[in-house]
Amino acid sequence: MSKELDVAIKAAKIAGEALEYLFESALEHEIKRDKSIVTKADIAAEEVILNQIKENFPDHKIISEEKGVIDSESPFVWLIDPLDGTLNFSRGLPNFAVSIAMTENDITKISVTYNPITNSLFQAELGKGAYWNGEKIRVSEVNDLNTAMITLGRARDEENKKKTLRMINNIYFKSHQRIIGSSALELAWVASGRLEGFISIGLKRWDVAGGLLLVTEAGGKVTDFKGKELDPEDNYFLATNGRIHNELLDILKK
Ligand code: IPD
Ligand code: CA
Ligand code: CA
Repeated sequence: MSKELDVAIKAAKIAGEALEYLFESALEHEIKRDKSIVTKADIAAEEVILNQIKENFPDHKIISEEKGVIDSESPFVWLIDPLDGTLNFSRGLPNFAVSIAMTENDITKISVTYNPITNSLFQAELGKGAYWNGEKIRVSEVNDLNTAMITLGRARDEENKKKTLRMINNIYFKSHQRIIGSSALELAWVASGRLEGFISIGLKRWDVAGGLLLVTEAGGKVTDFKGKELDPEDNYFLATNGRIHNELLDILKK
């Protein structure tokens, strides 16, 4: 295992302990400009992750949701969402995760997604497969959209919410669907065959970069809404088990 993955796993586990400790306690939150919320759990988890990365890779650049950009000239960039699913967390709902990814020249090299409540740790390294708690994972074999489970993650502004409504309208009678509220976890679930597809409508890179590597390393497919290879800066995409990809794309295009 690379040192980067080792450090990411350690950081995710320590952050997970902080989250588990605060989970189901009365937590105040602030509302951010993008209408998402932040609690002291986000800040506590972020601090331990940043400490681990800075200590081990002092020259690397870091982009972390709450702290923003910690700049350096490095081609190595860490993308961190210390708590993906804060709204769920703040209400005592256990669908949330720590998400840590590292990219080199814009290519995601390693990824860790961790839910401390279910003790689920998903990890991937480019070219080396994806794993859940040490077991190799693959996307599901479901090839019938009618029985597939599709989830959606979206930015909270009006425009993206309207797009989301249109997409739900298109798939509502043709699949099972949910809005779960933790994109990082949902992508890990696509990778491990629990879901067949995830649709991103305007999410941030730290929400999805790690999860996308899990999906591709588990044999899944990722494209933009036109079916083209995804540009790393594009936040509109479809990540699936591959088997229902084209059928879902056709429906979304309508
Ligand atoms: C949120 C989650 C959610 C998505 C939201 C994101 P946060 O991240 O990923 O699934 O629909 O738009 O903001 O704010 O809990 O880190
Ligand atoms: Ca997030
Ligand atoms: Ca977050």
